[in-house]
Amino acid sequence: MALVLGIESSCDETAASVVADGKRVLSSVIESQVEEHAAYGGVVPELASRSHLRAIQPVVEAALQQAKVEPSELDLLAVTNRPGLLGSLLIGATAAKALAWSWQKPIVGVHHIEAHVYAALMTLEQPCFPYVTLVVSGGHTSLYRSEAADQHVELGSTRDDAAGEALDKAAAMMDLAYPGGPSIQKTAEHGDPKAYSFKRPLLSRDSLEFSFSGLKTALLYRIHGPGGTHGSDWLLPKTEIPNLCASYEQAVVDTLVEKCRRAAAQENIPRLLVGGGVALNRRLRQELQAMGEREGVEIILAPPQACTDNAIMIAGLGHELWRQGRTDDLNLDVSAAG
Ligand code: KG4
Ligand code: ZN
Repeated sequence: MALVLGIESSCDETAASVVADGKRVLSSVIESQVEEHAAYGGVVPELASRSHLRAIQPVVEAALQQAKVEPSELDLLAVTNRPGLLGSLLIGATAAKALAWSWQKPIVGVHHIEAHVYAALMTLEQPCFPYVTLVVSGGHTSLYRSEAADQHVELGSTRDDAAGEALDKAAAMMDLAYPGGPSIQKTAEHGDPKAYSFKRPLLSRDSLEFSFSGLKTALLYRIHGPGGTHGSDWLLPKTEIPNLCASYEQAVVDTLVEKCRRAAAQENIPRLLVGGGVALNRRLRQELQAMGEREGVEIILAPPQACTDNAIMIAGLGHELWRQGRTDDLNLDVSAAG
């Protein structure tokens, strides 16, 4: 049995996980900083670094303890080293290198976005490349043609906001809690997705690019009237918030699903991988499955516990790279850009 300790600290979650044989999750510990950043409506990099520093050792210890694994039993340490907030990445990478050195274990650096994709691949007995892949999170909304676990050719990406960012900003407009994705999902449960018609930002007929900023502005003008700004008077009663949430969420979901359908058709690949924080969204999961059934596309979703930032996916991809003989040494560096 191969045991891998994964460590993730690229943004505002400090996470560690022990995974056996690249598939079986023995533990997954996530210390989220959401509450610390909530007051600012987004992640404050300096605060994030300090919180990672406080959390990293207890989180790693808890992951080993919950897995009932001793450091001596580990075969590998895998750590996110790109892309992300530089200060945050440094804390995880430095901790992983120090542990690898003191425990005399190999180490491998993992690409955060590739790991989001791997979260979906981990659910399969045997992957069958190529895939069309959607990574949809707070920082990314991109479609890829995936040729291997670490080979993803971009087909299209967002020209402005990521889908998660569009949800986070919309939630802020409606005074809903940060992060906005889960708040909008919850509030939308009591709303009618057809109450307001938001134009789906599909760009041209064949485009695989995304653009969510127009949708965001459309919501702002719905709330405050044309030319309205955040903080000005509401045109609508606040009791309309559930309807606004459901209609807005539906527009974001429809856009994502349609682009996935197009990508699978254009690439002639009837297999779709989906990962990232927004992949947790219930409406998106349901509508992707429905599209898959309609179009004959196999839909492979990252499991809920591995959608938002976590270390399961880091340990999983780390295991795969190690299996291919691709480890790093203690000079392993971090990179903000990926
Ligand atoms: O993958 P992630 O944890 O971090 C990044 O790498 O960006 O994704 C965070 C994003 C946030 O924008 C959050 O609002 C969104 O995922 N999110 C959701 C849901 N849960 C988290 N969006 C829609 N529905 C959800 N249930
Ligand atoms: Zn992420």
